[in-house]
Amino acid sequence: MNNIIEIKNLKKTYENGTIKALNGIDLEIKKGESVSIIGPSGSGKSTLLNMIGALDRADEGNIYVADNDLMQKKDLSKFRLNEIGFVFQLHNLIPNLTVLENVQTPLIETSIPDKKMEERALEILKSVNLSDKINQKPTKLSGGERQRVAIARALVNHPSIILADEPTGALDSKTSEIIIKLLLDIHKKENVTLIMVTHEQNVANMAERSIYVLDGKIKEEKMNTPTGINI
Ligand SMILES: Nc1ncnc2c1ncn2[C@@H]1O[C@H](COP(=O)(O)OP(=O)(O)OP(=O)(O)O)[C@@H](O)[C@H]1O
Ligand SMILES: [Mg+2]
Repeated sequence: MNNIIEIKNLKKTYENGTIKALNGIDLEIKKGESVSIIGPSGSGKSTLLNMIGALDRADEGNIYVADNDLMQKKDLSKFRLNEIGFVFQLHNLIPNLTVLENVQTPLIETSIPDKKMEERALEILKSVNLSDKINQKPTKLSGGERQRVAIARALVNHPSIILADEPTGALDSKTSEIIIKLLLDIHKKENVTLIMVTHEQNVANMAERSIYVLDGKIKEEKMNTPTGINI
């Protein structure tokens, strides 16, 4: 299958149907593509990401992710572990674990031997340039360093899709740029599909395609040039 994600007429309501968070989403994403999702607060961006990452189930419609029918699938946690890497705005690192331990947490419920888990975590921490911080606690790190730990943690299970929900929302503009470039770099090198939610147009333009969400629907889509300048 060329498309890693296929969504048709997806709907999700909250509060007994009074809030229509997703109101008929149609979306196809190719394997290895980078896509940004932009739109006003409350428009449904995080809800859409949560449906793709199977953190929650939709009410109606179809959603296929990496050949899994998420409306039907039973074991969603196994699906998440195999296919998805999450990066959130607030990185959710565990404060009393070291950087190395934090990165290994997604692997704990797998059957991967400890030694292999550590090797993989060390390798990925090297790729985000944090080899010198592996024994440090997250509270002693800068915001950008913490977000790089979160990215390493998202990648440690070799996901086919990275879902990033405002990954730079809590960072200054210079650090934001470093983090986005790192995500795009990993996406290219490892051929991982990248979907990132952002409020910033310049960040959105750095993805290959941008999607504009309004009132739970996709209002507009556009292709971006590799320089981030719109055609
Ligand atoms: N768990 C929930 N319970 C009830 N309503 C919810 C829940 N999660 C989201 N909503 C509502 O669904 C709508 C879409 O929310 P969502 O979080 O997807 O927006 P968003 O586009 O990510 O906004 P932001 O840019 O502020 O993060 C909003 O009206 C929100 O209040
Ligand atoms: Mg959101």
